[in-house]
Amino acid sequence: MAVHQGSEIRVLQSGKMTSAGIYIHIPFCRSRCSYCDFATGIYQAHAAERYTRAVVREISNWSEVGSLTVNTIYFGGGTPSTLLPQELQAIVFAIRERFDVDPNAEITMEMNPGGLDSQTLRAFRSLGINRASFGAQTFDDQELARLGRSHTAADIRKTFYDLRNAGFTNINFDLIAGLPGQTNEAWLRNVREALALKPEHLSFIYWKCMRELL
Ligand SMILES: C[S@@+](CC[C@H](N)C(=O)[O-])C[C@H]1O[C@@H](n2cnc3c(N)ncnc32)[C@H](O)[C@@H]1O
Ligand code: SF4
Repeated sequence: MAVHQGSEIRVLQSGKMTSAGIYIHIPFCRSRCSYCDFATGIYQAHAAERYTRAVVREISNWSEVGSLTVNTIYFGGGTPSTLLPQELQAIVFAIRERFDVDPNAEITMEMNPGGLDSQTLRAFRSLGINRASFGAQTFDDQELARLGRSHTAADIRKTFYDLRNAGFTNINFDLIAGLPGQTNEAWLRNVREALALKPEHLSFIYWKCMRELL
């Protein structure tokens, strides 16, 4: 866990209230994508449970709280939505206990398209998670298969609408630009598909991978 203070340390020493963001890394995925270098491994229930306990312990022991108000919390990965709602709840609870969290704090969770039922999404939302972010990557099913993604373009649209129905009014998703063999026309088709969903935010990430795709 990291509290990003940056140059605000000086302000903190002057006794002024200032804000901070908390990033929590959840290093589990249901399957590994061929291109990804993020620090993650395959989800195992007992490892996730131990990891959750360790994160909660670290938050509870954090001493450099000062007069910081936390206005963003970000669960990144990996795939944070592999955790059970009660595991995420334990982490959110520990943060709220240890830190002064702004009542309007933005709380983001990364997830993967497909495989998340509406009940689970509603459970995440009821924990106070108010922003969702997922990797769409491309709306081309062949490209998704070459990337080793576990979902189709239809799953992207379904997850987006399921999130809306679960009460998420702030949604980001990622598209990877410059995939091997991707033409300008194919990229523009992706952008049009993405815009048609009207997300609050879109991230375009430039393809960076040394490995050959199959
Ligand atoms: C670490 S993932 C977390 C979200 C979730 N696990 C998922 O894949 O949907 C965040 C983003 O990193 C990007 N990413 C990972 N490896 C990449 C690569 N080699 N080149 C470009 N983007 C990459 C993908 O766009 C992915 O959506
Ligand atoms: S699901 Fe996301 S974090 Fe996991 S391997 Fe794929 S791109 Fe990386």
